[in-house]
Amino acid sequence: MRDVIIACDFKNQDELFKFLEPFKGLNPFLKIGMEIFYKEGPQLVRKLKDMGCKIFLDLKLHDIPNTVEKAMRNIADLGVEITNVHAAGGILMMQAARRGLDSNPNGKNTKLIAVTQLTSISQQILEEELHIHEPLSEVVKAYALNAKKAGLDGVVCSALEAPIIKELGLISVTPGIRFQDDAVGDQKRVATPSYAKELGSTYIVVGRSITASADPVAAYKRCVKEFC
Ligand code: C5P
Repeated sequence: MRDVIIACDFKNQDELFKFLEPFKGLNPFLKIGMEIFYKEGPQLVRKLKDMGCKIFLDLKLHDIPNTVEKAMRNIADLGVEITNVHAAGGILMMQAARRGLDSNPNGKNTKLIAVTQLTSISQQILEEELHIHEPLSEVVKAYALNAKKAGLDGVVCSALEAPIIKELGLISVTPGIRFQDDAVGDQKRVATPSYAKELGSTYIVVGRSITASADPVAAYKRCVKEFC
């Protein structure tokens, strides 16, 4: 079940389809996020599914339970493999998201995962702006436990946190992946694909190490070889 997900951080579908040309026949797993989704809409997801791609629709829903439930019922129609919510919305909101997916037969194979804390949140921001006075790692663990209580399938986290998540019986979707010889860039807590495998990640999300590579298909195949 382990797989490599390519983070498709492109401005629009023209850029994305150009990038995907050499991937014909490989049917990669793609992460579609807010930037391109708000530009191109659900139609883009339908096109990619028709092309045989698997999709992680990374929209990070966070609203009152009723709104999230109804939004999830609509997302279920797209039949994506994975979608997500913010665990900060609370257990009732996550349960509502689950109900929304489960109430639509098209969503029966969609895994629902939660963002615990964004990697852009530091201990200082947590305390001074969010007024949460516990160590970040404890907050991540507590939020993952809430996701489990709400019946979710897993969480987005750093590969370094994958062992704790595995212990909880949840799947982990882990960004912050770099090859040994890559620049780390703005990511802080990175792991190589083979280290992520060792730590027990279920899926790795890889952006620039593939999309900015001189040979994206070779970089993708290298990830698959190391991780799967
Ligand atoms: O280019 P890079 O491999 O750093 O891209 C990682 C992808 O994962 C980006 O789309 C980024 O927004 C996303 N992500 C992340 N950290 C999180 C959640 C999502 O890097 N905690």
